[in-house]
Amino acid sequence: MQMAGYKMHSEQTNFGLLVAAVVLTIAGCGGGTYGGSSDSGSSATPDSNQDTFATDRAFFDARVAPRMEFCRSCHVPGGIADTDDGRRFLLSRNPAEDYDNFYASWQRLGRGTDLNLILTKGSNTADERHDGGGPWPVGSDAYSDVLTLFICWDNPQACDLTTGGGEPITDELPLLGSARGSHLWFDYCEGKPDNEPVPQDPRELVVPGINTGKAVYMNGWWQTCQDDNHPGNCGELRARYDRGYRLVASDSEVGAGHFFGGNYTDAGFAFPASDYNTLWSAAMGLSERPDNFDQLISERWGMPLSQTHNPYPLPGEDPNQTNGGNGQLPIGLTHLRNEDGSWTGRLNVT
Ligand code: HEC
Repeated sequence: MQMAGYKMHSEQTNFGLLVAAVVLTIAGCGGGTYGGSSDSGSSATPDSNQDTFATDRAFFDARVAPRMEFCRSCHVPGGIADTDDGRRFLLSRNPAEDYDNFYASWQRLGRGTDLNLILTKGSNTADERHDGGGPWPVGSDAYSDVLTLFICWDNPQACDLTTGGGEPITDELPLLGSARGSHLWFDYCEGKPDNEPVPQDPRELVVPGINTGKAVYMNGWWQTCQDDNHPGNCGELRARYDRGYRLVASDSEVGAGHFFGGNYTDAGFAFPASDYNTLWSAAMGLSERPDNFDQLISERWGMPLSQTHNPYPLPGEDPNQTNGGNGQLPIGLTHLRNEDGSWTGRLNVT
């Protein structure tokens, strides 16, 4: 976006200046989003604090399986750990296969108990530092549970599945993946009722000190710009989304928010669609308007074409006879409308 803004700026088009200014405005407050699992929060299996397990499988399901999501972030085919140094411990994307894969990995890594790489890598006490950090420190419940399991596998005579008591355990969350956009809150609230409380914004955890003892390094701290940032519950989150959508992502809706225009029907920076229609020569230097003008504009400035109807009038078109026109604007531009829904023929940046 910054590049896009700069290029347009250098071409001295009114439109370009606008976009450059908007990009700077947007960059002002941190708006990055993190993808991640929707299974946030804790969920202890009902019998997870039992003291006795009939089989190693039952023990695995209660005490070890909930810890696999974290390892799965990397130890899957095609994942970060699918390398010569990492793939002897390999899970699949299907949790139902975890027991078999965990057992096969333990065998591949030479069986044994506390010296098996699954435990030394998991606790980051192996000779070679573990790229996945040490989520299972020696002495932790996780470490003890996996050790208990390995002792049973290694020597059934010595197997004692009564040692798995202690605190109910929580699912270990996978590392943040890439959902390519969206926010944890929206993933979390999907399918949940309006009164469901929304968890803390994970980005708020990125404060000085967070790097201590971690394998992942954050090089900047999160700042919350608004006091009422947290929506409270899923209903309010959705209500905010609906209100904000019109403002920031509006595709020619009546009352769309636009640059220095609020939700008015015009603004000083708005410009006629006829100007936009000259960009093929004014900005692109072509000798005639290309058939795929809309697509080229979108690609040139990195603004994807809207997936909804986001029209502007083509040369000679009356927008009020053509439902806004037969051109398609990219996301970030909108065709301004009057309160009665009629089209003004003027465009602005949202
Ligand atoms: C962020 C990615 C990541 C996560 C999460 C992760 N690992 Fe790893 N792991 C690696 C990489 C990369 C390697 C190969 C290089 C090395 O040894 O660190 C590796 C290597 C290993 C190995 C050695 C396998 C071999 O073929 O020699 C074991 C065992 C292992 N990890 C266990 C675990 C366990 C258990 C977990 C979950 C508690 C886990 N890892 C979580 C990235 C990860």
